Amino acid sequence: MSATKIHAVKGMNDLLPEQSGLWQRIEESARRTFGLYGFAEIRTPLVENTALFVRGIGEETDVVGKEMYTFVDRGGESLTLRPEGTAGAVRSYVEHSRHAVDPIQKWFYIGPMFRAEAPQKGRYRQFHQIGAELFGVSEPGADIELIAVVHRLLSAVGVKNVVLRLNSLGDAESRPAYREALVKHFEPHAARLADTDRRRLDKNPLRLLDSKDPVTVEIARGAPSTLEYLSPASKAHFEAVCAGLTAIGIPFEVDPRIVRGLDYYTRTTFEFVATSGLGSQATVAGGGRYDAMVAELGGPATPAIGFALGLERLALLLEGESPQVERPPVLFLGVLGDAAALPALKLAEEVRARGLPVELTLKPTGIAKQFKRADRLKARFAAVLGDGELASGSVKLKAMGTGEESLVPLVELASHLARATTPES
Ligand code: HAM
Repeated sequence: MSATKIHAVKGMNDLLPEQSGLWQRIEESARRTFGLYGFAEIRTPLVENTALFVRGIGEETDVVGKEMYTFVDRGGESLTLRPEGTAGAVRSYVEHSRHAVDPIQKWFYIGPMFRAEAPQKGRYRQFHQIGAELFGVSEPGADIELIAVVHRLLSAVGVKNVVLRLNSLGDAESRPAYREALVKHFEPHAARLADTDRRRLDKNPLRLLDSKDPVTVEIARGAPSTLEYLSPASKAHFEAVCAGLTAIGIPFEVDPRIVRGLDYYTRTTFEFVATSGLGSQATVAGGGRYDAMVAELGGPATPAIGFALGLERLALLLEGESPQVERPPVLFLGVLGDAAALPALKLAEEVRARGLPVELTLKPTGIAKQFKRADRLKARFAAVLGDGELASGSVKLKAMGTGEESLVPLVELASHLARATTPES
């Protein structure tokens, strides 16, 4: 009888070695791009107090209302696996009084997030975000720079088919009038709304605009646009952001539907949406301003803006286009016979000490099989160490591309390979 297999948790995936090369390329590109704009890495815990997300993201959002992985820990505290990175970053900004160090802080993060959503292509329960938060600047320059980072990152990794959609949700001054207009629009249809959406109509009507309920979606089609209700200051801000993006050649579409699914947004919101390749989960990156959140979480009034990009979605977009990054060994070192095992191990270490990757045979087989493996791994050179080589003190080194062979003394193998692989050789 065989033991029952244990599977990965639904919606939580392994990243296999064949896929991780692409992820590493994306992450390296992101780090380089953030460096160009002066963003430094922040790593916050995967688990936070539940109250942080409830207060930070908003009780009426789908994320807080039905998607959080919340549990009571051994001390009786309610904890939650982070569903996104912004709330944790703000907590950290406040907790470490970063405003006193320098109110302008530019942070980026790369890591897993958790949401109990129904899994499908591009939507998972553990997924990964590359995100950034820029604290301390209310001027439109921050919005422009933040959007420019995302745009540069996407083009650096080779994404082509995405459009930038831009909107403004207004500020504390414009919100009440807009809220009233929304309620006026939805109220005549209240009886048809599902329970959750009827509650939203009372408590947080903006959330009706990202409801997935078909009845609400239909009614929302004719809803007034936030842009019609902007205060003069919010309007000027939005126009300056549009002008800045145009000035640096970043194309965008104004789309009053970009209300985003989280409560903390004020003024600018944006999404980069794939025009093909992702099906219904087409939003690759999203973000916006959240000028009230630092104060709401106990810090001094500090404007902020940020974004997050879904790594899985970006990888799906790039899978077809970019070849896997491979790091083939420079040397495949085969072993024949027990006596050669230790000397081969020492030789492999000598070559690795020069920074050259070596694949050493750990499980000796016939010579033909070993060369086959060298081929499969795309090794640049291959050599097999056996009794004969140990006795003569030299080994035949085969260049796998040309088949050319040269006899190299064992003591010179490392330096020979180092010379053979320097760029000018
Ligand atoms: P979000 O729109 O909830 O924003 O998520 C950002 C991106 O994460 C999405 O555009 C998508 O690519 C990816 N994503 C979200 N949920 C899933 C999922 N279940 N499976 C796969 N990918 C997913 C935020 O999280 C905000 N914290 C962004 C932000 C930062 N706003 C200001 N600062």
